[in-house]
Amino acid sequence: MEALDMVVVNGYKQNENEKKLDILNLPSLEDQAKQIIPTGGFGYIVGGSEDEWTLRANRKAFTHKQIVPKALSNIENPELATSAFGLSLKTPLMMPPIAAQGLAHAQGEKDTAKGLAAVGGLMAQSTYSSTSIAETAAAGGGAPQFFQLYMSKDWTFNESLLDEAKKAGVKGIILTVDATVDGYREADIINNFQFPIPMANLTKFSEGDGKGKGIAEIYAAAAQKIGPKDVERIANYTDLPVIVKGIESPEDAEYAIGAGAAGVYVSNHGGRQLNGGPASFDVLETV
Ligand code: LAC
Repeated sequence: MEALDMVVVNGYKQNENEKKLDILNLPSLEDQAKQIIPTGGFGYIVGGSEDEWTLRANRKAFTHKQIVPKALSNIENPELATSAFGLSLKTPLMMPPIAAQGLAHAQGEKDTAKGLAAVGGLMAQSTYSSTSIAETAAAGGGAPQFFQLYMSKDWTFNESLLDEAKKAGVKGIILTVDATVDGYREADIINNFQFPIPMANLTKFSEGDGKGKGIAEIYAAAAQKIGPKDVERIANYTDLPVIVKGIESPEDAEYAIGAGAAGVYVSNHGGRQLNGGPASFDVLETV
């Protein structure tokens, strides 16, 4: 394997290599990443909860859901550009909020933001990002971004992050409601995984910046009880659209919209925390 540029952060070999990716397909890209990302970080990124039944169901759903082609559409150059929540996108592609991207590369979310800006898709930042809201927004150079909030019991925390997102020019808030406790994540147990790299958005809060903690402790510091009143409070606080993420039932969708959400994000968190639920693609239609 070629020599890698890397820096060791709190014992973790963080990749600093900059090169054009050789992308044939996603599984082969994952193989390349596995060569570079340390075992603990890789296990955290790819791993699901328990025996990963839901994670596999998600993947399988994409093999049995069908799209019926319309052949006589009389179109020479199909147009992928679209709009979502009033934002113009060059491609109907959204990067979900993914935590701690510094585990994969020293530039963390900043390079992801650059990639999304280049392709004209929508980037979503996680509360548990390695880089701060302002840094990631600046790296995107004004391209559309959303910010995902992990609601805390501490409303100063919630309001402060919502304010920062607004100030950084973020265009929407994704409120995650499906992961109030962590799952039984076997890879993290085997690797005794704790975040080696600080989470920039947490540095100013008393619970600490996430460094040296496992996902269970990080979730424990967030809210365990979330209901329609919380959605309402957040929607009233911010003038950005609030999209409630982690919905799989029509009832939850109705509660969310009734509480002032601008949209719902049908998801089971990639099967990363709760195992046994249906594939989100399979419930999309009913929601
Ligand atoms: C996850 C959280 C942090 O790793 O969203 O699933």
